[in-house]
Amino acid sequence: MGKSGVCSSGVLSASTMVYVLTALSIVVLISTVYVNSHLNSLLSVSKRIHNYVSMYIGIDSKATVTSNSSSSRHAFSITNPSITRATTPRATTPGGTTARPNECKSCFKHDFDFMLNNEDVCQTDTGNSTIKVIVLISTIHKNTEKRKAIRETWMSPYTGNTGPVRYMFLLGRISDKALQVALETESASYRDILQEDFMDSYNNLTLKTMMAFRWASTFCQKAEFVMKTDDDMFVNINGLLRAVNQHTDVLQRSVGGFCVLSASPIRDKGSKWYASEKMYPHRKYPGYCSGTGYVTSMFVTRRVFEISKHLPFFHLEDIFVGLCINKLGYTFTRIGGFSTNFIPISCSYKQSIITSHGVSPKQMRQAWDLKC
Ligand SMILES: *[C@@H]1O[C@H](CO)[C@@H](O)[C@H](O)[C@H]1NC(C)=O
Ligand SMILES: *[C@@H]1O[C@H](CO)[C@@H](O)[C@H](O)[C@H]1NC(C)=O
Ligand SMILES: *[C@@H]1O[C@H](CO)[C@@H](O)[C@H](O)[C@H]1NC(C)=O
Repeated sequence: MGKSGVCSSGVLSASTMVYVLTALSIVVLISTVYVNSHLNSLLSVSKRIHNYVSMYIGIDSKATVTSNSSSSRHAFSITNPSITRATTPRATTPGGTTARPNECKSCFKHDFDFMLNNEDVCQTDTGNSTIKVIVLISTIHKNTEKRKAIRETWMSPYTGNTGPVRYMFLLGRISDKALQVALETESASYRDILQEDFMDSYNNLTLKTMMAFRWASTFCQKAEFVMKTDDDMFVNINGLLRAVNQHTDVLQRSVGGFCVLSASPIRDKGSKWYASEKMYPHRKYPGYCSGTGYVTSMFVTRRVFEISKHLPFFHLEDIFVGLCINKLGYTFTRIGGFSTNFIPISCSYKQSIITSHGVSPKQMRQAWDLKC
């Protein structure tokens, strides 16, 4: 009995242990799930708060921004944790081992062949005889849906390329044959594609912008203003037209948008906007307007393209344009309404804003369909 008693009490405590352990693991499991779901909603809430805050204070993390009494809204910089390490090889400085000189003689020739050129985007024989703005939109082959959404939303009043606003998509070369065939078909249908024979990569964005400046100065000289933007941007064209009309004079010697007057190179190798001492030896950039959207006159566009041949390549396109502007002795003009952040979808998309960043095709349609 004693034996069986010991035995049964042993069995009992073992099975009790199993029960207790099972109950405990269920509790742990439930609380993990609970905490996780709360963490997720906490994260999304803090992300939203960040969006709102950055919308009002205007955060741009392209460079380390230093304080300037007259632009104290940029008195700090943030590092965007979602930006991943650049995987493409870095641009090399001319000469390889020496630091980037400030200028050079015809060292940056831009003479790539056009693979696709819809030359008649800016022709004025039929349609409108004057062109107010040509909008040049940086994109990549696979972003077919983004281009479609742009044509169907904010650019839709002007898609025939016959009105006072014209537009063109900008691409380089890729090796994927199927995507190239699809792009050629798209170009034949919409006649809004410009492609040059350089390899399309993040580090070649300066080549893409110079392609756009070259093309605009050659094939779209009639346009009064030139805007450069990206395919993840919503551009309120009416707001843009108001801005260029308001700033017509200053834009004859200036580039306008979300401009940063005093910024330093980011020396952190993990940053998407990394620039080594060799790539850019100075402590400060001369200023730039965020590549998410900037606008200037045709005069400045032509001058920038001309001077660009005598400046060594620099891989961040908006900073390169800034270096050209500085070399020319021109200025940067901060224009209200240009945002480098995502602005929550609202009637402001048709009223006060000029640009909003990181807008998906679905959000473009949401904003466009608002009855405001
Ligand atoms: C600060 O901004 C003003 C006007 O925008 C400019 O004239 C001045 O040169 C800037 N100062 C520095 C240190 O960048
Ligand atoms: C040409 O553009 C002007 C505004 O710049 C506009 O008033 C006019 O209706 C346009 N004409 C055509 C045929 O699109
Ligand atoms: C463009 O970028 C790629 C990779 O970043 C590089 O290999 C290539 O040489 C660059 N230049 C041209 C003109 O394609």
